[in-house]
Amino acid sequence: MNSKHFTLILLLFATVVVKAADPAEGKKLFQARCASCHNVNKKLTGPALAGVEDRHSEAWILSFVKASQSMIKAGDKAALEVYNQNNQVAMPDHPDLDDDHIRDILAYIKEEAGKAPKDDAPFPRPGQTQPNLMPLTIYNMPFMIAYIMLVVVMIILLVFLVNLKSYEKHMEEKKHD
Ligand code: HEC
Repeated sequence: MNSKHFTLILLLFATVVVKAADPAEGKKLFQARCASCHNVNKKLTGPALAGVEDRHSEAWILSFVKASQSMIKAGDKAALEVYNQNNQVAMPDHPDLDDDHIRDILAYIKEEAGKAPKDDAPFPRPGQTQPNLMPLTIYNMPFMIAYIMLVVVMIILLVFLVNLKSYEKHMEEKKHD
């Protein structure tokens, strides 16, 4: 076997063993297992997870996600610190997630870090049931008030003009008398 073949086989072997972390898979896992307490960029029950790999080693994170309470009971300083910073709310263990699963989640976190949280996006708002510009509706109070006032002013003007006419007539008749 020449060296060219050897490197080729080595490369093939490496791609099988070193499976690259998959952020798409991580997203699914994150949404199913973590999103109830964590957002990447916003604190919920648990801390915002953006930059978590700068705060802790990968080995620490793998161990914490699998069994944070065991680390806290064992007196791990960093684990105790986050526990106390988060009002001592226990994070549930995830013993069924293996290292690759958690690496996928970390890849997803890295990808999402720095993006604006979804619910801060200006549009579309699922709660909004009406389009923005709709002046001709009873729900548009300032418009309705202006409209009613205009109608009232026109009625007063009409009444005034009618009365003016009959007043003038009255004066005319007086003159002829
Ligand atoms: C029931 C709520 C809950 C769920 C679900 C949850 N966590 Fe947590 N997580 C927490 C809390 C609370 C903390 C703060 C540490 C503590 O109190 O133990 C935390 C802390 C962490 C930390 C340490 C963060 C830091 O800044 O030091 C990591 C990493 C983490 N969680 C990852 C995950 C991952 C990954 C998942 C999904 C597989 C997950 N968590 C699911 C509540 C949760």
